[in-house]
Parts: sequence; structure tokens; C-alpha cells
Amino acid sequence: MFIDTHAHLTDDAFRADLDQVMERASASGVGAVIDVGDTLESSRAAAARARSHPRVFAAVGIHPNNASRADDGELRGIGKLAAEKGVVGIGETGLDFYRQHAVPERQEEFFRRSMAIAAQCGLPVIIHCRQAYRRLIAILKEQRGPGVGGVIHCFSGSAEDASALLDLGYSISVGGPLTYPGSRGLRETVGGISLDRVLIETDCPYLPPQGKRGERNEPANVVAVAEALAALKKISLEEIAAVTTANARRLFRGINV
Ligand code: NI
Repeated sequence: MFIDTHAHLTDDAFRADLDQVMERASASGVGAVIDVGDTLESSRAAAARARSHPRVFAAVGIHPNNASRADDGELRGIGKLAAEKGVVGIGETGLDFYRQHAVPERQEEFFRRSMAIAAQCGLPVIIHCRQAYRRLIAILKEQRGPGVGGVIHCFSGSAEDASALLDLGYSISVGGPLTYPGSRGLRETVGGISLDRVLIETDCPYLPPQGKRGERNEPANVVAVAEALAALKKISLEEIAAVTTANARRLFRGINV
């Protein structure tokens, strides 16, 4: 069984055919999907879907690109949702210095407060980081503490970034970019990471694997990511499935399938 640890099922791209999408996921061996919110509204939708769908779990959070539009009330709303059944993580949250839809100070404020919610609820954080690894690592060093941890989703940092994050106790998640011909550096970095700290994801509807680029991505395609990881680590797909699923269950303790 595979777990897609990062999907955006609330995206409009899935409005028409989510049932079929979930059926294809099951048929491909994807036994659980974490539906990740990026606004209070999409987080509410993810939590509702987690209540109604036995194989969907939710993460709730405000994406750094939405930090300038969100207010304090929305963060309080995330804090409330965090206590709901089926919510297994806080995110996505983090820093995006590439797009900078919100000024860095605002992103950092939201990120710290999201980390505080996660620590309070005993949930892991799902971190988005783009061109902000140095700052991210500095903040995570400050925030170190019992029960604080999580995953860097769609990891795009350097080998040094990866090793600093692993030292801080965080896991690294890989998605479609691992399959791209141009991702040699990423493959080299991930090749050096101990497999017990690696998760797999799609980030669908974005970032489809090689061969499906230009199409809508969906949870069934997490198998292509697992295949790329198996080739990289030179072990069987079955072993990759077993280890990454165990890693996801260890981190997201609320996953009960
Ligand atoms: Ni995402």
C-alpha cells in the first residue's frame, strides 16, 4: 500500500470526478491520501472530506502565499479544525521567498503561529519551502522542542539543507519532480537520505510525474514517484511501499487504515 501524503483534493480540478479519482487511487494501491488545505476554506473542506471518506485524512493550514489575505480569525479557525477527527497534520504552512505573495515578515509570523498550533495539538507540520531554506532552518532551530516535527513537502533544497533538516528531526517528502530528467541534483540528494525519513506525495493537481507532464496530476500517480525512488535506492517497489507507508504512519499518527 502507498500513501499520498500531499494532495489538494479540494482544488477545482477535481470538482467533477473526485469519486473516479479516488477509485483509480485505490485500484493503484494508494490506500490513504492526505488532503492538504491552503486556506481556512479549503482546510474546512479537507476536514469535512476526511470525516466522510475513510481513506482521506486532512491537514489544515494557511499557505504562505495566502498569508497576506488571511487574518487572525482564520488562524484561530485552523486551531479549531486541528482538533477534529481525521485531521492528522497542520499545513501547508512555511515560507515562499520565490513568489512572495506576502512579505517575508508576514509569512514568518503565520508560520510561527502555525507551528505553535501544531505543538499545542501534538500534530506534525507540513512545510512548504521555496527559496527560503536558510531562513526556514533558522526558524526550525529556534522552534525545536518535544513533540515538534513534521515534513518538508516537495523538497527542493540542497544536500546541506536536507542534512540540517534531518538533524532537526524532520522528514523529507518527494513528488513528481523526482522523475524529471532535469532533477539530477535532487535525485543525488535524495539518494543520500536514509530511507526511513523519506515520504512520497503527488502535490496533485500540480507536478505530475514524467510521462504525464501537462496533464492533471492525481493520487494514483504517487506510484510513479515510488518507482523513481525504488530505482534510485536500488530496492523493490514493494519495499519502497512498505517503508514509506510506515514512515507516513509514524509521522501522521492519525492515519488509521
Ligand atoms: Ni501543496
